[in-house]
Amino acid sequence: MDFDTKKLFRAAERGRYAIGQFNASTADQIRAIMRVAIELRTPVIIGTSEGECKFIGARQAVKLCEAYEEAGISVILNADHTYKDVKEIKNLDTIRALLDAGYNSIHFDGSVLSFEENVKWTKQVVAMCKEKDPGISVEGELGFLPGVSQISKEKVEIKPEYLTDPAQALAFVEATGIDRLAVSVGNSHGISFQEDRLDIERIAAIKKAIGGRAVLVLHGGSGIPSDQIQAAITQGVRKININTELRVAFHDALTATLIGSGETTPYKFLPPAMDAVASVVEGKIKLFGSGGAAL
Ligand code: G3H
Ligand code: ZN
Repeated sequence: MDFDTKKLFRAAERGRYAIGQFNASTADQIRAIMRVAIELRTPVIIGTSEGECKFIGARQAVKLCEAYEEAGISVILNADHTYKDVKEIKNLDTIRALLDAGYNSIHFDGSVLSFEENVKWTKQVVAMCKEKDPGISVEGELGFLPGVSQISKEKVEIKPEYLTDPAQALAFVEATGIDRLAVSVGNSHGISFQEDRLDIERIAAIKKAIGGRAVLVLHGGSGIPSDQIQAAITQGVRKININTELRVAFHDALTATLIGSGETTPYKFLPPAMDAVASVVEGKIKLFGSGGAAL
């Protein structure tokens, strides 16, 4: 997967669409996502959080994604939220191992660090990745996103101090040299009973501040109403991450298939769950507008 990931985002900017990052932790989920990507001829990003990567295996995830190159689809494999919630970073060994395994995209999440520490470590991640291969894409994060990728019965509070400041965003992008910037703009991880409400003006202000220096990324894409997603894309968001909706679709379909069925053959009980994942992915890709943009 040694292609220049930046060309995909340059094309997204020109075409004013967003590329979806779909998280997965099993081969079945990756196959379901890729089936849709191939059908719709779209570039796609497979995301693995630290837990997801540990489960599937870094090398295995790389090899699975590489298998789709022959279908003519550029797959970005992104290590999602590396170092999330780590307040004292000792080294970047985790990222080095992911690069050695063949990941072509790294998201370093220094959002719990002070601005200075976040800049310091993000800059080192950029240097490490670019030394390995300048075509590797690096995402940094500024601002804080509450919640985890699951359905929550509690209200997820988004405090004003969590939100990304546009001027600081520019300073962060310039100081670190990142390719992509993940921001806090009213979004949160997971789905809570209270829908996220995006701060569209803030998205526009951040985009205006950073210009073409970095790709604007929206995390926590599950549960955000379509009209808000569309408004975010209009204002310049070019990558959107989806996880919870895929997890829920997989779980619910698998549960419905298995309960009381007595079916023990995986290739018989897995397809409905894969179809459910594929259906969510299809809806998102159509919403994001990246269909037909495969390079
Ligand atoms: O990094 C992954 C995403 O931000 C997923 O968020 O679970 O709310 O879709 P989500
Ligand atoms: Zn995220």
